Amino acid sequence: MTDAPKKLFIKTYGCQMNVYDSQRMAEAMATEGYELTEDQAQADMVLLNTCHIREKAAEKLYSDLGRLKPLKAERPDLKIGVAGCVAQAEGAEITRRMPLVDLVVGPQAYHRLPAMARGEAPAIVTDFPEEDKFDHLPRRTENRATRRAPAAFLTVQEGCDKFCAFCVVPYTRGAEVSRPAARILAEARDLVARGVREITLLGQNVNGWHGEGASGFGDLIRQIAEIDGLDRIRYTTSHPNDMADDLICAHRDVAKLMPYLHLPVQSGSDRVLKAMNRKHTADDYLRLIDRIRAARPDIMLTSDFITGFPGETDQDHADTLRLIEQVGFGTAFSFKYSPRPGTPAAGRDPVPDAVADARLHELQALLTRQQKAAQNGMVGRTLGVLFEKKGREPGQMVGKSDYLHAVFVQAPDAQVGDLLPVRIAESAPNSLRGELVN
Ligand code: 5AD
Ligand code: SF4
Repeated sequence: MTDAPKKLFIKTYGCQMNVYDSQRMAEAMATEGYELTEDQAQADMVLLNTCHIREKAAEKLYSDLGRLKPLKAERPDLKIGVAGCVAQAEGAEITRRMPLVDLVVGPQAYHRLPAMARGEAPAIVTDFPEEDKFDHLPRRTENRATRRAPAAFLTVQEGCDKFCAFCVVPYTRGAEVSRPAARILAEARDLVARGVREITLLGQNVNGWHGEGASGFGDLIRQIAEIDGLDRIRYTTSHPNDMADDLICAHRDVAKLMPYLHLPVQSGSDRVLKAMNRKHTADDYLRLIDRIRAARPDIMLTSDFITGFPGETDQDHADTLRLIEQVGFGTAFSFKYSPRPGTPAAGRDPVPDAVADARLHELQALLTRQQKAAQNGMVGRTLGVLFEKKGREPGQMVGKSDYLHAVFVQAPDAQVGDLLPVRIAESAPNSLRGELVN
């Protein structure tokens, strides 16, 4: 009875970096005898790994904590922890506002979570510790918290020095730090040894990676591509100003590097880009896209956009729509500007909400048309699909194409982890359907 595994429930908000951190926290807590559960009501510990990027994301934490009150009242020994970027930004304010929270841990300190859970470390840790968390986390070999997934994330770089005027990341994740190549390669090999075939390299500014042991991010990718058993490499998120020639060449030369690039531009107006402190123009971006497409003609491009940034006019918005028309994106994320405490743009005169909303809708309509066109363009092509899970229909598998589209396939004999050629037959709103090519 006493050594029955304790149950850990983790809810992850926000970006892929948080998904990675959640996985590593689960692996760290596995050494304390915790295993993951999908059922919050069964949990001995609930961990909310939070995001601070927009106000809505941050407020979700407090509504979710409110909903945990009855569970905590019923089971006072239930431990509730808040991790991630809201933990970093608000620290002790969280326990003041929500006394049911036992632990608060920032994104640079979560290697201390096991000690915190044992009561051997303070209940609130939001400093940027001297020691590197990666040196104190368990290796990524199989353990009771490891999901048997063929695709995994691997953080290679954290933090950001770019200080875009809208963004909290430099404050919540700190200054740019790149992990040494040797550590990254060792982690990648551990992942491959446990069955991973696709690795997505993560960083807030991943293409700005400048760690020891490689001449730049392109070289790092080339080194990782040498690992036998690894079939696919992706990376996210990138800044246009860090797309070095060597990285562009890697898109031409490295077969394992998938033809997909998420390259946020935020706006197509030079005035707005300047006010955002992006340090590039719309034309710089377009010329960069030309060079990337020259290296890898079939690359699919995706991006992030913000509407209603302070000072944005109708003309600026029109410029953004034109840039989108000129590039042709495979898909893109777009957000209404959300003022964030402590950022330079927070005090500037806002664009009326209704205007920002209308621009967001117009932008999203255009991006949806482009997404549809890109998906329709896949029909008739044969693409590699890495199967990640079983589908709902009998004999059905779901996987990801080279271009990161979800693909549904009838493949009763296939296993999760198979990478097979699939002929795309049909495009649905957010996925593709295909048939195995024998
Ligand atoms: N308001 C709206 N969107 C934002 N993003 C970052 N900060 C904000 C903000 N304050 C968007 C950017 C970024 C993506 C991750 O989130 O487009 O690329
Ligand atoms: Fe959100 Fe940014 Fe933190 Fe990711 S790094 S969780 S996007 S605030």
